[in-house]
Amino acid sequence: MSKYTDFGTPAKTSDNQITLEIDGTQITVPEGTSIMHAAMVGGVTVPKLCATDSLDPYGSCRLCLVEIEGRRGFPASCTTPVAEGIKVKTQTPKLADIRKGVMELYISDHPLDCLTCATNGDCELQDMAGVVGLREVRYGYEGDNHLKSEKDTSNPYFQFDPSKCIVCSRCVRACEEVQGTFALTIQGRGFESKVASGIENFLESECVSCGACVQACPTATLIEKSVIQHGVPEHSVTTTCAYCGVGCSFDAEMKGEQVVRMVPSKNGGANHGHSCVKGRFAWGYATHHDRITTPMIRKSIHDAWTEVSWDEAIKYAASEITRIQAKYGKEAVGGITSSRCTNEEVYVTQKLIRAVLGTNNVDTCARVCHSPTGYGLKQTLGESAGTQTFDSVMHSDVIFVMGANPTDGHPVFGSQMKRRLREGAKLIVADPRQIDLVSSPHVKADYHLKLRPGTNVALIAAMSHVIVTEGLINEAFVKERCEIDSFEAWCDFAAKAENSPEALSETLGVPAEDLRAAARLYATGGNAAIYYGLGVTEHSQGSTTVMGIANLAMATANVGREGVGVNPLRGQNNVQGSCDMGSMPHEYPGYRHVSDDATRALFETAWGRPLSKEPGLRIPNMLDQAISGSFKALYCVGEDIVQSDPNTQHVTHGLESMECVIVQDLFLNETAMYAHVFFPGASFLEKSGTFTNAERRISPVRRVMTPKNGFEDWEVTAKLSSALGYPMHYSHASDILDEIAALTPTFKGVSFKKLDELGSVQWPCDDANPAGTPTMHIDEFVRGKGKFFITEYVPTTEKVNAKYPLILTTGRILSQYNVGAQTRRTDNVTWHKEDIIEIHPHDAEDRGINDGDWVGIASRAGETVLHAKITERVQPGVVYTTFHHPESGANVITTDNSDWATNCPEFKVTAVQLTKVTQLSEWQREYKIFSNEQIGFVQHPKNEANV
Ligand code: SF4
Ligand code: SF4
Ligand code: SF4
Ligand code: FES
Repeated sequence: MSKYTDFGTPAKTSDNQITLEIDGTQITVPEGTSIMHAAMVGGVTVPKLCATDSLDPYGSCRLCLVEIEGRRGFPASCTTPVAEGIKVKTQTPKLADIRKGVMELYISDHPLDCLTCATNGDCELQDMAGVVGLREVRYGYEGDNHLKSEKDTSNPYFQFDPSKCIVCSRCVRACEEVQGTFALTIQGRGFESKVASGIENFLESECVSCGACVQACPTATLIEKSVIQHGVPEHSVTTTCAYCGVGCSFDAEMKGEQVVRMVPSKNGGANHGHSCVKGRFAWGYATHHDRITTPMIRKSIHDAWTEVSWDEAIKYAASEITRIQAKYGKEAVGGITSSRCTNEEVYVTQKLIRAVLGTNNVDTCARVCHSPTGYGLKQTLGESAGTQTFDSVMHSDVIFVMGANPTDGHPVFGSQMKRRLREGAKLIVADPRQIDLVSSPHVKADYHLKLRPGTNVALIAAMSHVIVTEGLINEAFVKERCEIDSFEAWCDFAAKAENSPEALSETLGVPAEDLRAAARLYATGGNAAIYYGLGVTEHSQGSTTVMGIANLAMATANVGREGVGVNPLRGQNNVQGSCDMGSMPHEYPGYRHVSDDATRALFETAWGRPLSKEPGLRIPNMLDQAISGSFKALYCVGEDIVQSDPNTQHVTHGLESMECVIVQDLFLNETAMYAHVFFPGASFLEKSGTFTNAERRISPVRRVMTPKNGFEDWEVTAKLSSALGYPMHYSHASDILDEIAALTPTFKGVSFKKLDELGSVQWPCDDANPAGTPTMHIDEFVRGKGKFFITEYVPTTEKVNAKYPLILTTGRILSQYNVGAQTRRTDNVTWHKEDIIEIHPHDAEDRGINDGDWVGIASRAGETVLHAKITERVQPGVVYTTFHHPESGANVITTDNSDWATNCPEFKVTAVQLTKVTQLSEWQREYKIFSNEQIGFVQHPKNEANV
């Protein structure tokens, strides 16, 4: 099985078409196309080794030489562009001789162990030896050779065997051009030349294990360890990564039910053949022994679990829900869905809650991440989604990244962004911390606005002030496209002296001249695009900042075409989709309010049940009401609220107060410790459905293996529904998608058939846009006229003082994913075994803290202990940690503060004090953690006797 069909060099686009003759056949291709690519398009295979269509041509192996009538010599077809009317021959006796000679040299320094080589049958060198007809090698192994070179097996996922290297440089170029990490070089010259990865080995180098080099390697030099273990794959199924909001498409290459490797799909609309370490390598959790595959029930959370049949578990859960609703009323129950779920799973869950349980008490984990995006963009632009495709960034002249860390959180898009930056786009970064983008190989931010956590709205105000008072508004755009009254009111507000950079500089901790320069660059630098993340939304004024960002884009006409826009970088794979599917308590699928009579009537007719017009409870309200005694049962699908929601003590208190908690998940997660029913979930490899990524791209999730628990997750929800007296008659996830399409205008044209045909499609997809909508708001905003909102800066109530003088802010790291339930069960723990607290050298010195010390982190909500890392990446007064390990308790110390409009928690601002300590915090000691080498499954004391 070949890694993919390869056209040798990248495709070109041009209005000029060139016609040439190759081996007697007329071929027409865009100007700039290489002769090799033209030949491949025409079905003529040219032998090659150093060329591949994901990389710029290099011209080193000399295998692809051709003859061109009337030209001297033998040009390399990979580096020679087509020309009108030329006649090319790819097969002549002379060319055959040259190629044979070249191959003979390669093979003479290559171990002839093809039969036992792990890539036997999937090796381009082997293929080329066959293609050029090499039958014998005259030079043998005598003399100098590389056959005894030592293997580098340091990376947990792939190995490097230099004895098989042909020094084609594809790996080096992949690392530079595709990934943008520049971890590899070719050292030495001539016979001495070799691939080198930093000082020691791959693991110690700058390598981020994206695997682009492994994919590019034409031999077995760089090879996945899984291929060595399982052998060459036999078939493949195209599916979608279940980690981040980039939504990379992958070919799951299989041997029976065994995944051999995940190869990023070249046709993937979001990733174009690239991936990060999570999607490509960290899929082992799907078959991890921690998976629970048998349903379990128990009367009390202090009892041992009892394994039961699916029928019994479903029956018990349904009877408990029925009992509780009969006793406490129908509003005493609710459900939580996850952005890890497919669209179809979210849809059936909210349908169950609304139609079967008769309440709108359904919420989603987007509550704690991007709910302000949904609110803010709906208010200003009219649609709760990003405006662009990822590819749009390749048309940007100015990239403004605010509160996001794309190279860690959205790595494949981060690589694409870096590519555009290396081409010359300008970069503004607004972040309290020095993220990698600020300074990485061949990328340097023009302005790093190192603002204090919690001051985003002030930053937007200062930039708005400059744009308004320096005449940088695009008046024509605003006049034609926006509500003038709202615009004028916004201008008056922005122009106030209190919003000037000079007035806000101290609040922000950013020099006024930098604020002015960044604003001017954004407004006048050409196509300017804003990318933002949780550093914008997870604040008490998260929605305000989102609206402020939209104001900036509208005022400067940076919306409605390629290269511009307002782009929320959604964290999880299906944040966009779970919101689209009506997982919020006030909205049906398609963001239609439950109080809207016509919409409600539509769903009542389709679902055959009366529906409530009252918005239901949000997650924090469910927990509050559980504690106060009126909320009694929860169905929690794929979400671990104990670990991911703020103020853990409050969450666990809420859960402990309920009479029936049903958890559906792959693992016995932290929330399951408070559950009475456990439904085992299916991994993304075991189910069908769709995910919708950050660019509104709906991509198919295809089942590649049988669910270990017996059922796909939507089937479990449907079974519960049947047990509650409402059978759901779906036979496949595609039936659910058809129902979604029938009831949701923006999904009207979406179906599995269309996804099979197009690969993916960006909503809105309807009669007017049957192939989807890459760029939104082109001629007019979805709401008609764009609306400006006054975004006044209101400082958070979470203040520093003498007791809590530092601000803690949080973020993610490349190798781990959210609460780590999946990535902690893979070799990704190699790179991040524990969460650590970053502290500036001045703050560390004041407290006598040294690198590696245990430090206690105390906030008004709680206390935890982490190892310290002293670094100037954070500014004085700010400390930073990630939240991937449950034992770290990042959310033990975060507070109850939340966004005024959406209740999104203020994760990014917590006043804390740090002190050097010698032992773990009390709750950590009680948790008995760090006994399992600080990785993997953490056994909760409540459960250790009974699992
Ligand atoms: S490791 Fe593979 S891709 Fe890199 S130079 Fe060697 S053969 Fe080429
Ligand atoms: S795995 Fe990625 S980052 Fe590492 S060397 Fe290969 S291309 Fe570079
Ligand atoms: S985690 Fe994100 S960037 Fe990485 S492969 Fe998956 S979807 Fe792509
Ligand atoms: S493929 Fe053209 S020189 Fe190597």
